[in-house]
Amino acid sequence: MSQKAPQPSPRKKTVRETHATGPRTLAIDIGGSGLKALVLGPEGKALDERRRVKTPKPATPKAVLRAIEKLIKPLGDFERVSVGFPGVVEEGVTKSAHNLHPDWVGFNLAEAVHQLTRRPVHVLNDAGVQGFGVIEGKGLEMVLTLGTGMGCALYIDGKYVPNLELAHHPFHGGKTYEDYVGQAALDRVGKKKWNKHVERVLQQIQPIWNPRQIYVGGGNARLLDIKLPPNVKITENIAGLLGGFALWKDEPRQR
Ligand code: BGC
Repeated sequence: MSQKAPQPSPRKKTVRETHATGPRTLAIDIGGSGLKALVLGPEGKALDERRRVKTPKPATPKAVLRAIEKLIKPLGDFERVSVGFPGVVEEGVTKSAHNLHPDWVGFNLAEAVHQLTRRPVHVLNDAGVQGFGVIEGKGLEMVLTLGTGMGCALYIDGKYVPNLELAHHPFHGGKTYEDYVGQAALDRVGKKKWNKHVERVLQQIQPIWNPRQIYVGGGNARLLDIKLPPNVKITENIAGLLGGFALWKDEPRQR
């Protein structure tokens, strides 16, 4: 009796295989303290674990791009790239970067990431990307992010109003909003007082902007222990990557 050759055990289907149709998006979030990346499937779901490395210091475009190159190397394939950047972005060009390096002013980030990945690239302000991961698309919605800086983004019926830099608006005693609730303030005054600062910022914003809903995200949102008004929700920081999917929603499907 001939012996049957041992059969290889059926290969476990990976998430990537089960979502094989449609473009995958590499989402990158450039932050003042960390660079994060994740590949999203054709439906916008994470295909792998998020990867993170520390933002190089000084955070020049060259150093950050080199770090991004290393960060994304082990990730799976992708057909397009979304980047969240912590400053004003116009048509892929970065116009400010308070928490990175002055060399970012006037830097064509979309082109540089395209050179690196050979894929089409969209770049948007980081808070703007974050919002696309959480908004409902109804009425006036606002996103505030609490991290190294203070991010702010506004949406009307799901349409993004770009580059609202509330962070650098004077707030109190010669300080800007960001001076008041950014990482440096948290380090300086401690968690308890910083919570009070965030509370005051929310009280100031509400009657001026009158958003239907405010979403608070960013790495430090988890430190909040104030009673939040009913229209304020804390959201997961992963939205800063998941929101990258929406930057392609008006593009034709590519694969
Ligand atoms: C920048 C914003 C950014 C925020 C969070 C601020 O300093 O001016 O553009 O969204 O930090 O990263």
